[in-house]
Amino acid sequence: MNSTALKSALKKAPVAVLYGGNSAEREVSLNSGKGIAKGLEQAGFNVVLMDTKEIPLTELVKQNIKHVFIALHGRGGEDGCLQGALESLGIAYTGSNVLGSALSMDKVRSKQIFRACNIPTAAFAVVTKADFNELDSEKQLIALGGKVMVKPAHEGSSIGMAMADSPEKLHNALVEAFGFDGDVLLEAWIDGPEYTVAILGDEALPAIHMETPREFYDYEAKYQSNSTQYHCPCGLSEQEEAKIKALSLQAFKATGASGWGRVDLMQDSKGNWQLLEVNTVPGMTQTSLVPKAAKVHGLTFSELVERIVQLSFI
Ligand SMILES: Nc1ncnc2c1ncn2[C@@H]1O[C@H](COP(=O)(O)OP(=O)(O)O)[C@@H](O)[C@H]1O
Ligand SMILES: [Mg+2]
Repeated sequence: MNSTALKSALKKAPVAVLYGGNSAEREVSLNSGKGIAKGLEQAGFNVVLMDTKEIPLTELVKQNIKHVFIALHGRGGEDGCLQGALESLGIAYTGSNVLGSALSMDKVRSKQIFRACNIPTAAFAVVTKADFNELDSEKQLIALGGKVMVKPAHEGSSIGMAMADSPEKLHNALVEAFGFDGDVLLEAWIDGPEYTVAILGDEALPAIHMETPREFYDYEAKYQSNSTQYHCPCGLSEQEEAKIKALSLQAFKATGASGWGRVDLMQDSKGNWQLLEVNTVPGMTQTSLVPKAAKVHGLTFSELVERIVQLSFI
């Protein structure tokens, strides 16, 4: 079959959009899934929406569905578990494979990989629940420059994160973060502007610069506030934007991610770029970042989801 015939065959076969699920990012996923389903329908696909909280994966087998668009963010959907289950069932899915998903979801191991590949990323330390009681908070803070971001190692959407610039704040932030994860990342605070680069296939889309009056780009700034500003084109010189696109592609490949995704990075007060993380199933609501970048690149939402499907299944 040539590629045009494959494309039209794909449109006749049902594509399940898996969304919702049980992770802390369920609400975001419900919106992403609905948006993706609508976009795929507009592109002519035969779409089945499935909330994995309600419907077991075996339903895919029962309905003879061979293609899945993963719209699940966070644990269970973005971390390799679902990808492994789908592989076992012989069902094709969008985005990164088991390894790329698992590694990208793990903020600590991602940073270890960045370091090994000479990709710049801020200084960090890991605290486990087991070493929490022994932790010398003051010493740890000083070692990381006096101000840190505390992050559960395997969450997204800024969930469980907080800034700490005193031993007391660090203690409280750790207690909060341990509510989400047994491993917590302490990262040296980065005092500069924030950018994100969407990846589609082997290509980096135009970078987006995010600005919030809040302390950082937290859950509220991401999904609830109207004071967050998004700039795309991002305002960097052509040369500097090319640099962060290249860095983002490098980070994306380093964690084994593929197909599509989004890479977050910041610039420190010395002007150095620092990689934060790779997202393998980034938000896909109508107002999310990847669709924003795609629009500037010349793709409508519907064309974007169609392209992701083609990149994954053809
Ligand atoms: N080291 C840091 N210094 C300052 N702000 C940070 C740092 N790390 C993350 N942030 C802020 O927190 C947000 C979420 O961090 P990120 O690592 O991208 O995790 P998530 O998976 O929750 O998006 C970032 O978008 C940024 O605004
Ligand atoms: Mg992020």
